[in-house]
Amino acid sequence: MCGIVGIIGTAPVALPIVDALKRLEYRGYDSAGVATLEDGRLTRRRAEGKLRNLERTLLEQPLSGRIGIGHTRWATHGRPNEANAHPHATERLAVVHNGIIENFRELREALVAKGRVFDSETDTEVVAHLVTDLMEGGLDPVAAVAAALPRLKGAFALAFLFAGEPDLLIGARRGAPLAVGHGEGEMFLGSDAMALAPFTDAVTYLEDGDWAVLDRTGARLFDERDRPVQRPRQTSAASALLVDKGHYRHFMAKEIHEQPEVVGRTLSHYIDPATGTIRLPFELPFDPTRLDRITILACGTAYMAGLTAKYWLERFCRLPVDVDVASEFRYREAPMRAGGLTIVVSQSGETADTLASLRYAKALGQHVLAVVNVPTSTMAREADILAPTLAGPEIGVASTKAFTCQLATLACLAIGLGRALGTLDREAETALVAELMAVPGLIVAATRREPAIEAIARTLSHARDVLYLGRGTSYPLALEGALKLKELSYIHAEGYAAGELKHGPIALIDETMPVVVLAPPDAVFEKTVSNLQEVAARGGRIILIGAADAAETAAITADATLAMPPMPPTFTALVYAVPVQLLAYHVAVVMGNDADQPRNLAKSVTVE
Ligand code: AGP
Repeated sequence: MCGIVGIIGTAPVALPIVDALKRLEYRGYDSAGVATLEDGRLTRRRAEGKLRNLERTLLEQPLSGRIGIGHTRWATHGRPNEANAHPHATERLAVVHNGIIENFRELREALVAKGRVFDSETDTEVVAHLVTDLMEGGLDPVAAVAAALPRLKGAFALAFLFAGEPDLLIGARRGAPLAVGHGEGEMFLGSDAMALAPFTDAVTYLEDGDWAVLDRTGARLFDERDRPVQRPRQTSAASALLVDKGHYRHFMAKEIHEQPEVVGRTLSHYIDPATGTIRLPFELPFDPTRLDRITILACGTAYMAGLTAKYWLERFCRLPVDVDVASEFRYREAPMRAGGLTIVVSQSGETADTLASLRYAKALGQHVLAVVNVPTSTMAREADILAPTLAGPEIGVASTKAFTCQLATLACLAIGLGRALGTLDREAETALVAELMAVPGLIVAATRREPAIEAIARTLSHARDVLYLGRGTSYPLALEGALKLKELSYIHAEGYAAGELKHGPIALIDETMPVVVLAPPDAVFEKTVSNLQEVAARGGRIILIGAADAAETAAITADATLAMPPMPPTFTALVYAVPVQLLAYHVAVVMGNDADQPRNLAKSVTVE
């Protein structure tokens, strides 16, 4: 997603803006730009591609202004080129934008009819001309922005810089996050605390509909009806240290290896080690015995976490669980009885489809619980219950540690809810909690298989298609494995319930088709053995992820076996996620892909 940074500074701001934008690179982008005021005059530098191209432009043509705005753009309307890069500007102002202006065509037609001349294909440029037109009608910058905002439809964050106004920035938030940073004689705007971390940890998050008028002394905030409003000033946790690769080549590698620590930290948030029982850090604001259904809504990898939790919740709570991709759910007008429990799962807490689904469920009287990694996110604020994942900032666009922390949180929730419902007795609870407590150590053991995984990755990198198979909680993990391989290596991969193989996909099997089979020693292992034999009988190239003797037990010859540490059957997904992640990562590295920012992807999809 796009990144926004603004500074009212005491020294030249162009390069600090670019440095701050680098902290937003994890969001994914394809062009960048910066605008400053020099002697009151707007000056802009923009470049296609990565920020290093913008830096090169700034070295050749420096900017000296002490107030400015900057942007990394993930193209929605208009190709990723310099002409469409932000900031967009008129003679009066420059603006940067994250999100989509849905009614930009009608606004553009009206402005063209008034003689305004556009030079980009973007929706954003409409905002620049609309506010300029209002200023030429006699409004000052603040009044012009206030008049323009209600005329914009869609989800967006905006930041404005005005010619001749060396002590004024205006920011607005509707659907895409924006924060104000408080400095000493300086003020800042940023898409999130990460961008502001080099400047300040004193942050005010705008609420949906808010807009802010900044000068060197501070910020005046207004709500969507232009009433002055106060929002809390918080100390952000996104310190400058947190976004550092350390000795790893990519953030993704670092984050895979952080999993023992962050999964352990997340588990400790929900488990009382003294009693070996679950201690949910929140009161349920409803009587769980009155629940008749649980709905889980999410996107992408978070959706796979939800699918996995379905097995645990149905088994421990004896309740039916519906799991839906939020982009489908939000338009299906699903019937939901008031008083039910809806769980949204999201790393960023800002994904547009999941957020819209949260709001739909709330409007129908559901109790909403958010499993999110950003406690200051919109979902965290709008849900009735916050169940945080303590993964820390996840910079790699491909989600890894957030996924296993989501699984850890959902596992604890399932056990805790089972106890509250009386469908799980104390003995079962302590046995399951003991299994969870062993997971961080098992993840360490799984990461020690990395050299073998690298060797397999080299062969997999030549594949045209790859099939992932799994049963039980290994089925959602097969889906996740396929997603990881797709998004990192750009090789087509498909996850399938192993039991479905004979209902069609078996036609794909031949000696050119690598088949990754997740076969932990669980209750359905014997059934998976028959699938292994079906694949082997047709010459399929099996990559078996399971116990060391799994191939021997199945009486098949695998191309490769990734011997996983022995473990009980319930929570294998948290440990078998590691080879799935490392396999995709190393294929990407072998192929020379950018493992942290795969092409076309964004870290947080805050637009539909
Ligand atoms: C994960 O590897 C993907 N990059 C993507 O599917 C992601 O999980 C999805 O966009 C949901 O994001 P969220 O968890 O922030 O809601």
